[in-house]
Amino acid sequence: MMILREVKIQFREYSGVEELPEAWAGLVSEARKVSGLAYSPYSGFRVGAAVLLANGTVITGNNQENAAYPSGLCAERTAIFYANANFPDIPVTALAISAASAKGRVKEPVKPCGSCRQVILETEARFGQPVILILDGRNGIQVFDGIDDLLPFSFKPVALKG
Ligand code: THU
Repeated sequence: MMILREVKIQFREYSGVEELPEAWAGLVSEARKVSGLAYSPYSGFRVGAAVLLANGTVITGNNQENAAYPSGLCAERTAIFYANANFPDIPVTALAISAASAKGRVKEPVKPCGSCRQVILETEARFGQPVILILDGRNGIQVFDGIDDLLPFSFKPVALKG
């Protein structure tokens, strides 16, 4: 018998940084700042990411493009890999993302690409706790409680165990 199954995903929407808890507002402001330092001569699209660690450390990163296009890296992975490389034992608790096109800060919050979602998932699995995602946009700020709400059907490390 065929069964129709439904999956519920959710996120919160805030109208601006003023409405966010202080730690998240600070993280968004770091992401905005570092988006301005992106190396993106090919797309002209600037993305900033700020990672909050459990000990309060904030690590930032932005997109790094390359004339050989696939060799570039997104802001999210630049920041997460730096955090995990330098603080391998400190859990990542939150990640803020802010992007700007030639027209300025994007209206609709940018969502991490598929590869970045997979890396965020690995970070959650590695530390055994969700990474809160805070996505900045002029229309509002979206907050996801963890990667499962953005990538509900995912390949998880546990799958390797069959
Ligand atoms: N990009 C990011 O850094 N993060 C995202 O979430 C989406 C896309 C970058 C990759 C590339 O340098 C540029 O934005 C255009 O895709």
